[in-house]
Amino acid sequence: MSGKNINSIRVEPTQQSRLSQVDFNNLKFGQIMTDHMLVANYENGTWTDVSIVPYGDLSISPSMSALHYGQAIFEGIKAYKFADGTISIFRPDRNLERFNKSASRLQMPEVPEDIFIGGLKALLDIDRAWVPSLEGTALYIRPFMFATEAALGVHPSISYKFVIICCPVGAYYSKPISLKVETHYTRAAEGGVGFSKNAGNYALSLYPTQLANDEGYDQIMWTDASEHKYVEEAGTANLIFRIGDTIITPHGDTILHGVTRRTIIELAEKWGYKAEQRRVSVAELLDGIKNGTVTEAFAAGTAATITHISKIGLAGVDYELPPVEGREFSNKVLDYLNQLRYGKIEDPFGWNNIV
Ligand code: COI
Repeated sequence: MSGKNINSIRVEPTQQSRLSQVDFNNLKFGQIMTDHMLVANYENGTWTDVSIVPYGDLSISPSMSALHYGQAIFEGIKAYKFADGTISIFRPDRNLERFNKSASRLQMPEVPEDIFIGGLKALLDIDRAWVPSLEGTALYIRPFMFATEAALGVHPSISYKFVIICCPVGAYYSKPISLKVETHYTRAAEGGVGFSKNAGNYALSLYPTQLANDEGYDQIMWTDASEHKYVEEAGTANLIFRIGDTIITPHGDTILHGVTRRTIIELAEKWGYKAEQRRVSVAELLDGIKNGTVTEAFAAGTAATITHISKIGLAGVDYELPPVEGREFSNKVLDYLNQLRYGKIEDPFGWNNIV
């Protein structure tokens, strides 16, 4: 194959860009991938063949262990374009940290920073024209790793592939979402893999989510595995509430430690709100909605950004949250993060990583 090396990453540019086919004014989530992807292989205990190649199919063996035993993890990151064309990636260091925690839990090798972040920057440098600039849009970045050993038998694979693909996106949720409190099915149990971003955590959510959809809810509000008494997270994002004057998010190893969640808690603390990471019972939440102390509830995630929650249903009874317009904290966070991510204000935290 032809190609050139940039800092030990082999680059094979596409001969035919698909950029002109994209309608940047009507972006859906996750539909169109950029021209290139980064691929690296783990073999004999080391990462090799780090390459940026045209986006396309990968060849896999039917006995590849990820297909059978599920060693497959991923991340979600976003990059933004400033008005002057600067490209900035939001807190990729935090995603790398979480990715490697997921990897350790699933007995997979860690991916070093020079491949994860260095490779991502090299990839975005080539595909920078794909980063959309309209407010509400971003380049969604999906790093993932899966086991490639072509053999049956349950053991950690001896080989892996790490890949980064990207797609220009609009909103994941285009309106406030309704949640059904799940009191039968379980996402994660103590000692399990709830904190890791592995493919199986999403596969197991599909059936209960379909049941919730059939009842008219957009997503599930997961509860703890042993009693179904405590709130954990929403289908594809973390949960944050304002109860009285305190900003509260559920905590523990059964939930995903989201970068957006962490960012919002850090902002709340900096802005002088009381912020707590603790267990929140379903009763505390629903009573609070009834008596007016729960004034805000939203889902927070890379894809979801901040998605307001309109109502929460338990056993056929719906609890309506106050109107979105009056939600002071979540609207302020959303506005602040938009300004910071699109480079309209100073970034005092060093969260923007310029490519
Ligand atoms: C993200 O927020 O980046 C996610 O990975 C959620 C998703 C499953 C789209």
